[in-house]
Amino acid sequence: MCRPDHFAVHYSINVWMDPGRPVDRDRAVSQWETLRSTYERLGHRVHLLDPRPGLPDMVFAANGAFVVGDRALGARFRERVRAGEAPAHRSWLEGAGVGVREPRAVNEGEGDFAWAFTRILAGAGFRSDPAAHTELAAVFGVPVVPLELIDPRFYHLDTALAVLDHDTIAYYPPAFAPASRELLGRLYPDAILATEADALVLGLNAVSDGRHVVLAEQATDLAAALARTGFEPVPVDVSELLKAGGGVKCATLELHHPNTAEEQP
Ligand code: ARG
Repeated sequence: MCRPDHFAVHYSINVWMDPGRPVDRDRAVSQWETLRSTYERLGHRVHLLDPRPGLPDMVFAANGAFVVGDRALGARFRERVRAGEAPAHRSWLEGAGVGVREPRAVNEGEGDFAWAFTRILAGAGFRSDPAAHTELAAVFGVPVVPLELIDPRFYHLDTALAVLDHDTIAYYPPAFAPASRELLGRLYPDAILATEADALVLGLNAVSDGRHVVLAEQATDLAAALARTGFEPVPVDVSELLKAGGGVKCATLELHHPNTAEEQP
């Protein structure tokens, strides 16, 4: 995670961002601190990346790479304003002993790629280039399922879909092109389908450890659906980050374990 010390909305690279609307940085920091301590309370270890001035979106650590075990595919941001984040992630990961493959095509890391244990779900349409899917498959050696995003409010896969455990996902179908909806329906017939209201507070921008699901507290229907399915929803307020089009998952780069769900702590 990366503390939002320099968080701001100075430019607009997604439809959520309005540079004319004030952002309360102190509030963003305190919401982020709560998110961080929530993970720690749930037993997770949080590593911190040093925030850098001039990179107001750096709090959205999920975009910095895609990591499974000791391998990563580095990010290559679509927008120049975020380009400086990629080398910061690369040096942190290398320092932690992770081999980082240099990307060729544009990809925004875990923003568009979701580790689903036996496969990688990979979004494209607004940010990551479909050409990145070949690089992903080459680095991680698992099938890559391409999914096309069609609604600019859900510009990264992680704004419209969350992997909850080995065989369960939650998603918002209208964010996907018809062929992708069909594919998701076939792969995950028992998926939780989010309501529009919950999708619009980026409720799907959630982090699951297979049991607890940390998500935006405003996503109440989704929390109820998760509880009915046997997960434990853990609501947090990240409303300040929403002004930049981000949420819980965007603020979290998961260091995935290469093995199956059952083997995870
Ligand atoms: N303002 C950032 C951008 O538009 C938000 C990134 C959100 N990250 C995510 N993983 N969806 O790039």
